Amino acid sequence: MTKLAILGGEPVRRKPFSPWPQFTERDRARLLEVLESRNWGGYPFPNRYASEFAQKFADYHGAKYGCTLVNGTVAIVVALQAAGVKFGDEVIVPAYTWDGTATAVLFAGAIPVFADIDPDTYCMSVESARQAITPRTKALLPVHLAMRFADMDPLLDLAREKDLLVIEDCAHVHGGAYKGRGAGSMGDAGTFSMQSSKLMTAGEGGIVLTSRLDMFETIQSYVNCGRASMTDQFKRRVIGSNYRLTEFQAAVLLGQLETLPELAAARVAMGAKLSAALAALPNVRPLPPQTALTREPIYNYIFQYRPGNSKVSRDMFAAALDAEGIPCDGRFYEPVYRSDLFQVKREDFPQLDRDLRKASCPVSERAAYEESIWLPQFELLGGEGDIADVIGAVEKVAVNLAQLEDADPKLAALKSMSRAERPRIEKKNY
Ligand SMILES: Cc1ncc(COP(=O)(O)O)c(C=O)c1O
Repeated sequence: MTKLAILGGEPVRRKPFSPWPQFTERDRARLLEVLESRNWGGYPFPNRYASEFAQKFADYHGAKYGCTLVNGTVAIVVALQAAGVKFGDEVIVPAYTWDGTATAVLFAGAIPVFADIDPDTYCMSVESARQAITPRTKALLPVHLAMRFADMDPLLDLAREKDLLVIEDCAHVHGGAYKGRGAGSMGDAGTFSMQSSKLMTAGEGGIVLTSRLDMFETIQSYVNCGRASMTDQFKRRVIGSNYRLTEFQAAVLLGQLETLPELAAARVAMGAKLSAALAALPNVRPLPPQTALTREPIYNYIFQYRPGNSKVSRDMFAAALDAEGIPCDGRFYEPVYRSDLFQVKREDFPQLDRDLRKASCPVSERAAYEESIWLPQFELLGGEGDIADVIGAVEKVAVNLAQLEDADPKLAALKSMSRAERPRIEKKNY
């Protein structure tokens, strides 16, 4: 019998995967050019590379306008503010997402209301969103998660029926498209993060896309200390801040956009091989294909752990896969209302009239604590050899699950820790 590496056996793989982030010689040249130009900041606004990048990124996603800014959290705050979300309004968010989706709603003065997710896409369930609507609901904030899109057509229908705004959180899906429509181009606005782990990155950074000129102008004012936008047709005056992106970051993002299609194609090809292989294994299940995806993004490749009658936990499975040399995560996200990063207090957010931690979204809880295994996208970038190792390791653990039945629970300790605790131990570079 092959002994699992977590129990002292030989691991499937000892090599690291492809490095992330990636860059080219053109990036080096552009960065040097910015350095020597002495035009480093975000002002004059929008600056040269920031404008060029924003327009190209908007074009690629089929939106009219793009406004770069400091990060994906601020992108959501500003999009909500520019859409007209006000103090005490309710905004429906999926429970299964990065905490920042919900905290951005709080920072905008509104109240996040948690909807559950669809079990096959892990994105906001349309039915759960419908049930969460009250007379105070102002917006839907679906997240396109990991490798799937929220089902936008019925969500947009729901928004029209109830007169709600739609802001898409696209932090995971740069370049992705649903039924031929680009991420961030379907609602009133779409927000992206360019933080280090993302499919395009400048270390930090973000962008808001919109096709509404009124929103574009207002977003620009929020990002540029309240100053009028260059067009200023709507003359909306707001208290803004300095959320501008630097020219160094914008230059890097231009290069990231150039390489995005090639890297996405490599991930999609390896993702398809992985899904085909996992479908034939016991105790695991690939997410069902989403036919609506016309350009597939894979930020993390998610598959499901299905233990059947075994009492081996998902966290133990993930720890065993890690030990085989395949970095992976189980609690990549917790339902935000249960996350220990979401220490929300009424005295800090005067708009709150309820305890946000009292939500219950069973599908999100199952995904977070029992079912999902997240593989970072760079494991899909190295070609056939890398994906053969991933498949081999998943197969080894899945087929030999019985070896873990009596394993010491301490072996899974790292995988059971919360997001707040883990950075003290983990040495990730993002
Ligand atoms: C789904 C989601 N929304 C929002 C954000 C916030 O982006 P940032 O970290 O750039 O503020 C992130 C990323 O961290 C994310 O994953």
